[in-house]
Amino acid sequence: MNTSAQSSVTLALTLSLCLLAGRMQPARAEDGYELWLRYHPVDSQWAGVYKAAATQLVSTATPATASSAISPTLRATQSELQRGLAGLLGSAPAVVADVTQDGAIVFGTPRSSHFVSDLHLDLRGTGTEGYVIRSVSVGGHRATVIAANEDVGVLYGAFHLLRLMQTRQSLDRLHVSSVPHVQHRVLDHWDNLDGTVERGYAGASLWDWFSLPEFLDPRYTDYARACASIGINGTVLTNVNANAQVLTPRYLKKMAALARVFRPYGIRIYISARFSAPIEIGGLTTADPLDPAVRAWWHAKADEIYRSIPDFGGFLVKANSEGQPGPQDYHRSHADGANMLADAVASHGGIVMWRAFVYSQDQPDDRAKQAFSEFKPLDGQFRANVLLQVKNGAIDFQPREPFHPLFGAMPKTPLVLEVQLTKEYLGLNTNLAYLGTMWEETLSADTYARGKGSTVRKVIDGTLQGYRQTGMAGVANVGADRNWSGSHFDQANWYVFGRMAWDPALTAGASAEEWVRMTFSNEPAFVKPVVAMMLGSREAVVDYMEPLGLHHLMAHDHHYGPAPWDASGSRADQTPVYYHRADAKGIGFDRTATGSNAVAQYSPEVATTFASIERTPEKFLLWFHHVPWDYRMASGRTLWDEMIVHYNRGVDAVAAMRRTWAGLSAYVDAERYAQVAAFLEMQQNDAKWWRDASIAYFQTFSKRPVPRGFPAPEHTLDEYESLCIPFVPGHPDKPDACH
Ligand code: GCU
Repeated sequence: MNTSAQSSVTLALTLSLCLLAGRMQPARAEDGYELWLRYHPVDSQWAGVYKAAATQLVSTATPATASSAISPTLRATQSELQRGLAGLLGSAPAVVADVTQDGAIVFGTPRSSHFVSDLHLDLRGTGTEGYVIRSVSVGGHRATVIAANEDVGVLYGAFHLLRLMQTRQSLDRLHVSSVPHVQHRVLDHWDNLDGTVERGYAGASLWDWFSLPEFLDPRYTDYARACASIGINGTVLTNVNANAQVLTPRYLKKMAALARVFRPYGIRIYISARFSAPIEIGGLTTADPLDPAVRAWWHAKADEIYRSIPDFGGFLVKANSEGQPGPQDYHRSHADGANMLADAVASHGGIVMWRAFVYSQDQPDDRAKQAFSEFKPLDGQFRANVLLQVKNGAIDFQPREPFHPLFGAMPKTPLVLEVQLTKEYLGLNTNLAYLGTMWEETLSADTYARGKGSTVRKVIDGTLQGYRQTGMAGVANVGADRNWSGSHFDQANWYVFGRMAWDPALTAGASAEEWVRMTFSNEPAFVKPVVAMMLGSREAVVDYMEPLGLHHLMAHDHHYGPAPWDASGSRADQTPVYYHRADAKGIGFDRTATGSNAVAQYSPEVATTFASIERTPEKFLLWFHHVPWDYRMASGRTLWDEMIVHYNRGVDAVAAMRRTWAGLSAYVDAERYAQVAAFLEMQQNDAKWWRDASIAYFQTFSKRPVPRGFPAPEHTLDEYESLCIPFVPGHPDKPDACH
């Protein structure tokens, strides 16, 4: 036998042994591009059941109507069902005009399909985006109907039906009704026109501005499919640190082309508006929002935009924040600025999402207080089409923050919850941290704005304060990387964002399980440990980076790795030492009445809890209190010892994640398995680095030993302090950054 024949026999033997051992199908190479829409064949156990429920796809086009008479959204629906069913079941069911056998799938609105209208389904509660899925009888045949008032609801329903099969749910006696609880479910891309992405860890921007509008990368359609599959209905294409060029005719053409791709999928385009655009591209000498010429310029600009993008969503604005221009440059208020833009888009049905992420260089006050101080007095002064966009916490997307005090405090101003999918402060794309648990924590937090049970969830979905408009925004984590998110597990953060924006009551666990089943495998031996790993992953990051309420201890500018010693830079309130306040007595930021009194911004019930060192949950202890090193924690340990326990718990949790993953190679294709394994190895190194650098540094204040049984830092503090990491992704580095 020659060597190549020998090796093919060995390969065949190895393969069949693997298949026997793992009950698995031969893993085909996967690079993550298909996300959770892989539609891989279902196992034989389910194939029969599902095939019997999907024998025919009843097109909304009657024999008399050409397929061009179907709306683009229903065409997209039909093609997704064909694609999904073909993948899952081995072949797509026949597309027919009439129901002739059991197992037909009927879809449409009462207007587009006579089958749907003949069923007289009650669609009253489903609004313009909701849908129902029902097991029905059509002409004496068993059928499944996906119905909605509007085409986009039908599309969402189709993704739901496919999800049921992807996650191996029964299709018997279906009685699904689903309606989004939040109106504007928007991804905010921080993409720049030069192709870079601020805080982007997934390669270059998805948008190839240079080749638009002529070239429409098929990827744009796949992005829209992915967004629609989880209910996202808006996208802000460019960075909040905005470039006025996006408002020029050259870029409006490009945006209009993208809008045409996204429209069938129910996705509207928004633009991040630079407040000084009237000066930069309009030739005016001022951007004063009360100046008639400025107002006229924005009106004309809005009209121009709507001429090429009739369903344009509106503007997202970061103003008077971190150097961005804004109305305060003209001694006008945020309300003046927002209202001017709101007036410009109002007649077209547009909205303005005005960001509350502001803190001033000139104010000596606690940065955590400044958004509330600036915006609370403006409640009631905004136009009806302005929504105020508020980050989950008052500092900046830290691994853990208490809920932002503005939630519940703006009864007359619709608030959008802004979360960050891209993990700027949680170890970038290479650290595994599932953020569903973080957002669930925020959404479940009780503001007590109208008594017990006034959760952030109810603020956001509008039920607490009767908002006219509701929204949730997620800072996108996708880029041109083949797997979209720079890591396979970061796809889950995109997924859970969409699912939670649709239904903020959805649990992190339920969403993680759906994602794991669709993205990797339905094998219980895989699903259970991976979901558990995901649910614990963010807490692991909190433990090894910033336990017990510590915050903003990351390296300057790029925010990768620990730098609790850092006091450099022009702004104190961007430095770790400003936040941890460690000294010989203890550590933590006193935000009670003896300190900044930020607690007073919460409702009295919440404020009293946070003001009391005993009643503050330990996870927020050092956020609100400066605590002595020997303070007794609930465990009976001193604060210092408790910190060491948490740092080590975080490192151990990552080690456990690695072990879990190492035992699961049989269920994952080699390519994705290897990347996750390698990233977990990096994460373990990062976790140790965080632990050791933090302990080495804080020990210079606590002067206490590392308790017995725990490792001492591997290197000296000097060594940690002298580490400089050049060219961290997502952040433009100065060429001499590490000199
Ligand atoms: C963070 C982030 C910035 C971003 C800002 C914002 O501070 O580091 O890159 O511009 O948030 O949300 O506007």
